[in-house]
Amino acid sequence: MQNFTGGLNNRKDRRKFLKNGIIAAGAATMGTGLLAGGLPALAQEDEKSGRLTRGDAAILRFLAAAEILETDLWQQYNELGGIQDSEVPGGSGSSLYTTALKVLDADMDQYIHDNTEDELTHEVFINAYLASRGADTVDLDHFRTLPSSNATGAQQIGRLTNLMELTVDTSWWTRYRSRAKNPDFGDTFLQAIPTLAVGKHTAIPRTDDDLAGSTLDTPSDHLQAIANTAGFHFGSIEQGGTSLYPSLAQRVTSVEVLRIVLSIGPTEAMHFQTWHDKAGNAPPLTDVDPVTGTEVTFPDLNSSPFGGEDFQTNLIMPEPTVFLSRDLPACSIVRPTSTKGAAMGAARALTASGLFRGQSQEFFEFLRDLAEDADEARP
Ligand SMILES: [Fe+2]
Ligand SMILES: [Fe+2]
Repeated sequence: MQNFTGGLNNRKDRRKFLKNGIIAAGAATMGTGLLAGGLPALAQEDEKSGRLTRGDAAILRFLAAAEILETDLWQQYNELGGIQDSEVPGGSGSSLYTTALKVLDADMDQYIHDNTEDELTHEVFINAYLASRGADTVDLDHFRTLPSSNATGAQQIGRLTNLMELTVDTSWWTRYRSRAKNPDFGDTFLQAIPTLAVGKHTAIPRTDDDLAGSTLDTPSDHLQAIANTAGFHFGSIEQGGTSLYPSLAQRVTSVEVLRIVLSIGPTEAMHFQTWHDKAGNAPPLTDVDPVTGTEVTFPDLNSSPFGGEDFQTNLIMPEPTVFLSRDLPACSIVRPTSTKGAAMGAARALTASGLFRGQSQEFFEFLRDLAEDADEARP
């Protein structure tokens, strides 16, 4: 696992990954306006915040980066297992992988398509809003260096994220079922799929070899394991977004930026709720990856030693739990929502999942830098 030690030695290094806002040509005019308005000098060596506070711009930039990364991963799912159309172009689909995904729900391809389009609009909107306020935007194209799947149906282009060596944290499953624990209190939670939370697992077919032995009627256990892995990864990603937005919203200054964060965040929760429901339909099976030798077991979550409040698959509504203080009554809430270190926590969690395996040290430093700036934001 990569860590976040170090950082860009020269902050100017990262300017090359940030694009100046639309008023770059009028910088002199902007400077005058800012001084006249009595705002702190913004146009120093760091990123431009334009007419936003430094903190608001930093929070939006971290969210823009997170959405670019989400779009990249969802695009890979859509190319192979979604619906390729004018709304979400690229790729030509893998009918066998799509069939395996549809074991979780007949509409999986539509949901994958719609989740992908949503992330794309989040990314484009946040960057466009930053630019409209004269603030620097985020561009990660420099880091599109990771390989595509070689399975038929995937585009052959550079990627930001790696879906072929994931270590999926499935503790969100039990976290949202607990009636007494909350990660904001330091509590920890059991994994729903313990073997998925260790080792490296692919969530998409890597080559057509991963489709061997499957038919349109019956996916092989290996291909079903890949589709099941995707099903739990969908929930893992979207519960992260569900927590990230309310966590960062607490340190936003402007009412308009707050409105943006409060309007996008709940769509992540809508995604999460859908994926939470579908993951429970993953058929129980055990597979040994023929390429890596890694074993994964999807247990029957409704039977002993699973089952009950912590695992039962139809318990997809959040259980009420402790919130703010153990002296207050239990409340049904998003968890976690602590704002301290929220951006860095998200960056670390995504990194620990293996989503960026193969990325350059420069990438990790840039992500860390964006997260640090967002976490330094104060209302
Ligand atoms: Fe999003
Ligand atoms: Fe999302």
